[in-house]
Amino acid sequence: MSKNTQLEENREAKPFKRSRLVFEPSLGVLGFFTVGLCLVWSFFYFDYRTVAAKSYNLSDKSERFVWLKLDNKNNKSDVIGSNRVGFLEESGDGCDVFDGDWVWDESYPLYQSKDCSFLDEGFRCSEFGRSDLFYSHWRWQPRHCNLPRFDAKLMLEKLRDKRLVFVGDSIGRNQWESLLCLLSSAVKNESSVYEVNGSPITKHTGYLVFRFENYNCTVEYYRSPFLVPQTRPPKRSAKKVKTTLKLDTMDWTSSKWRDADVLVLNTGHWWNYGKTVRTGCYFQEGEEVKLKMSVDDAYKRAMETVMKWIQNEVDSDKTQVFFRTYAPVHFRGGDWRTGGACHMETLPEIGTTSLVSSETWQQLKILGDALSRYSNRSETIKMNVLNITVMSAQRKDGHPSVYYLGSRGPAPLHRQDCSHWCLPGVPDTWNELMYALFMKQGRAKEANSTGNVTMS
Ligand SMILES: *[C@@H]1O[C@H](CO)[C@@H](O)[C@H](O)[C@H]1NC(C)=O
Ligand SMILES: *[C@@H]1O[C@H](CO)[C@@H](O)[C@H](O)[C@H]1NC(C)=O
Ligand SMILES: *[C@@H]1O[C@H](CO)[C@@H](O)[C@H](O)[C@H]1NC(C)=O
Ligand SMILES: *[C@@H]1O[C@H](CO)[C@@H](O)[C@H](O)[C@H]1NC(C)=O
Ligand SMILES: *[C@@H]1O[C@H](CO)[C@@H](O)[C@H](O)[C@H]1NC(C)=O
Ligand SMILES: *[C@@H]1O[C@H](CO)[C@@H](O)[C@H](O)[C@H]1NC(C)=O
Ligand SMILES: *[C@@H]1O[C@H](CO)[C@@H](O)[C@H](O)[C@H]1NC(C)=O
Ligand SMILES: *[C@@H]1O[C@H](CO)[C@@H](O)[C@H](O)[C@H]1NC(C)=O
Repeated sequence: MSKNTQLEENREAKPFKRSRLVFEPSLGVLGFFTVGLCLVWSFFYFDYRTVAAKSYNLSDKSERFVWLKLDNKNNKSDVIGSNRVGFLEESGDGCDVFDGDWVWDESYPLYQSKDCSFLDEGFRCSEFGRSDLFYSHWRWQPRHCNLPRFDAKLMLEKLRDKRLVFVGDSIGRNQWESLLCLLSSAVKNESSVYEVNGSPITKHTGYLVFRFENYNCTVEYYRSPFLVPQTRPPKRSAKKVKTTLKLDTMDWTSSKWRDADVLVLNTGHWWNYGKTVRTGCYFQEGEEVKLKMSVDDAYKRAMETVMKWIQNEVDSDKTQVFFRTYAPVHFRGGDWRTGGACHMETLPEIGTTSLVSSETWQQLKILGDALSRYSNRSETIKMNVLNITVMSAQRKDGHPSVYYLGSRGPAPLHRQDCSHWCLPGVPDTWNELMYALFMKQGRAKEANSTGNVTMS
């Protein structure tokens, strides 16, 4: 389907939905009818202009965004006056970079999807019909410090002769592809970045290894939605047990990435009833299948296994470990199977934490508990948490919605993707935060190796 057809469909759908809001309470009143018509016309006109121009008029935009700034819980001098320290400076030590706000920034996005050949069609929203581009212009601003701007060349220099590995579910893959685009934007020779086995970027591959030839480094992705292995059940298990998750064992592929220089783990979206017990996937500890164990308990055990593995198996002198927290979904009026939607969302909800659902808090809490079991010991766990849950909960505007089928055209409204993220988009921010922490740690190490101890 051509791009134009999709844009037209989008253009017509919006005024229709909005005009219904106008008509319903005021049937038959001529005045309202006229006002309604004007509204329809103006929405149509606005959409037409943005679609046609594909760029935004500053005066329109600033009006549209005034309320966002007012809504901001931050006070204005905090947002605009920006006397904050740089996170990488010594005075930036201890700054919680995950505490902050989304701010409008014309210098974003950091790349265009059409310039990056490493993206699944499912993430190339704007190329396949999504006409509002607001979602790509937000930058994360920590409350008490400034992040360094992502410098792809510098990052590649730091990754020279190294391996950076993502392990997790498809949201981890989403983030991995974002990093490939961010990094490759600094590489002139496109064919010097390639998958080592020539595998294409398509869904459901076990793993993919991209090599940046000039830097002798690889940026890899291993699919492991649970981080613990899913296997055949032990003999003589109950018939309903089709597979089990071995909660006390790290994923079998872990031997392949244990020695990576940078390791970015995530899990979460598969730890629910629908993706486990309902499909006959039960939980196993040792040789025992625990038929009664709840998904939350299982998730907790698995997280403890992951923390233990990091503590005991990973060489913290060589490997920098990141664990990215759960990325919230934004289905309204149902879930992904039952018609949940996010296609009308074009703006974030700024300055509030109340958007995080109780299930999502529960996910965070279980992870936090698993972590604190280790931080309570004499040695703390050698790991960075990319605590992106709350900030991402504000970004209901960031999902592909119906624009995930690529050239096959938009999906039907009752089959939306409100869990993955458009690229460029929100996962770029997760990578910018990872970049900041990566650079910070690098500096601490450098200072130390020259005899200057700046961190305890
Ligand atoms: C924005 O729109 C106003 C009036 O609608 C116009 O005067 C102005 O030139 C436009 N600005 C840009 C950058 O297109
Ligand atoms: C607003 O920000 C300034 C500068 O950061 C700070 O001194 C002041 O206490 C803040 N006011 C409020 C009400 O938070
Ligand atoms: C590339 O990096 C690996 C380590 O990952 C190293 O063993 C190898 O010597 C490097 N190759 C070159 C040509 O520098
Ligand atoms: C680009 O990289 C490819 C693959 O390594 C190489 O064969 C080619 O010579 C490079 N081109 C330039 C202009 O450096
Ligand atoms: C992540 O941030 C939230 C909100 O600030 C906090 O409640 C939670 O404890 C944090 N979790 C971890 C694992 O750091
Ligand atoms: C932390 O350790 C202390 C002393 O060993 C113990 O009393 C406390 O219950 C522990 N806290 C947690 C959360 O495990
Ligand atoms: C710095 O080096 C000392 C010993 O050489 C070590 O104990 C400490 O953990 C190091 N600190 C960092 C931040 O690497
Ligand atoms: C070590 O610290 C001293 C004093 O803080 C500073 O003058 C010096 O430049 C530092 N050296 C390095 C290599 O960072």
